[in-house]
Amino acid sequence: MTIDLNQKIYIAGHRGMVGSAIMRNLTAKGFGNIVTRTHAQLDLTNQAAVQAFFESEKLNQVYLAAAKVGGIHANNTFPAEFIYDNLMVQNNVIHQAFVSGVKKLLFLGSSCIYPKLAPQPMSEDALLTGKLEPTNEPYAIAKIAGIKMCESYNRQYGQSHGIDYRSVMPTNLYGPGDNYHPENSHVIPALIRRFHEAKMANAPEVVIWGTGTPKREFLYVDDMASASTFVMGLDRAIYDSQTESMQSHLNVGFGSDITINELAHAVAKATGYQGAISFDPSKPDGSPRKWMDSSRLNQLGWTAQVSLEQGLRQAYLAFIGL
Ligand SMILES: NC(=O)c1ccc[n+]([C@@H]2O[C@H](COP(=O)([O-])OP(=O)(O)OC[C@H]3O[C@@H](n4cnc5c(N)ncnc54)[C@H](OP(=O)(O)O)[C@@H]3O)[C@@H](O)[C@H]2O)c1
Repeated sequence: MTIDLNQKIYIAGHRGMVGSAIMRNLTAKGFGNIVTRTHAQLDLTNQAAVQAFFESEKLNQVYLAAAKVGGIHANNTFPAEFIYDNLMVQNNVIHQAFVSGVKKLLFLGSSCIYPKLAPQPMSEDALLTGKLEPTNEPYAIAKIAGIKMCESYNRQYGQSHGIDYRSVMPTNLYGPGDNYHPENSHVIPALIRRFHEAKMANAPEVVIWGTGTPKREFLYVDDMASASTFVMGLDRAIYDSQTESMQSHLNVGFGSDITINELAHAVAKATGYQGAISFDPSKPDGSPRKWMDSSRLNQLGWTAQVSLEQGLRQAYLAFIGL
């Protein structure tokens, strides 16, 4: 199969962590006709602006990596914004993509679509089998609606209009472009910042919340980008072989998980911090384990390539601006 490198591809959210990694991946593959807009240039919650953009650009493909994202604190404080912004962004982009004749679109969701008590590892079948984690329910509901938008458009217009809109659900991501905000970041960027600051201050000890025993899965963002372009490039029959018309999403995970204790030592190594690491068990741990079953994507031929050690080193170099 020959790949048309001149296809006009829109990356929504190209300045975000995931969107910028997708941009690097497509550029490295030789795709030369990539369309981008910053948030200031095009607010994707604005239906009229999104309609005008799609009408004028005549795009072939869309990667939908724009979203309002944040940690527990932000999700708890701004639940209305998390559900409204995300529903508006994805409804506008998916619908106007369809109206303007875009045949292929990739929607990016998240592992929080799965029930709080889903069996581990979480398989695609766990979707809509139980109650969600309450803290990010509004965000997760929007992501579930995004999957169902893609499915419903495929079901109604797939045959008549030849559209093929797919969804991928990544595990926790990290890498260049991550959010390192001191109070509102995910675990890896928070640990990178803390160990870096401890190293610079010659601090003898870093204390981490919780027992260190919960297990989590982490994927380097360039691996996520490679999975995204891989899934987008699959022949339809091959994609269909691992999905169903009303369960069309694919998980994207690293394949194994590690304890927070192991993670803390790996981040300390990547940053060059040599002091002690201890845990404060009086602080909450969260779920004991969260990892994704990525066997469907693996069977299609994709696996993660970047080890945690390599990925943390790259993330740290980007954090200190090297
Ligand atoms: N990070 C993770 O660990 C993770 C894990 C699983 C899934 N994901 C998914 O991956 C996708 C991208 O996440 P990310 O980590 O790359 O987030 P990010 O770094 O915050 O990037 C999101 C991008 O979307 C843009 N955006 C947000 N609202 C917009 C709007 N109304 N109009 C135009 N642009 C808008 C943002 O621009 P501004 O910054 O200017 O607002 C930003 O450039 C999301 O769907 C997320 O659910 C991420």
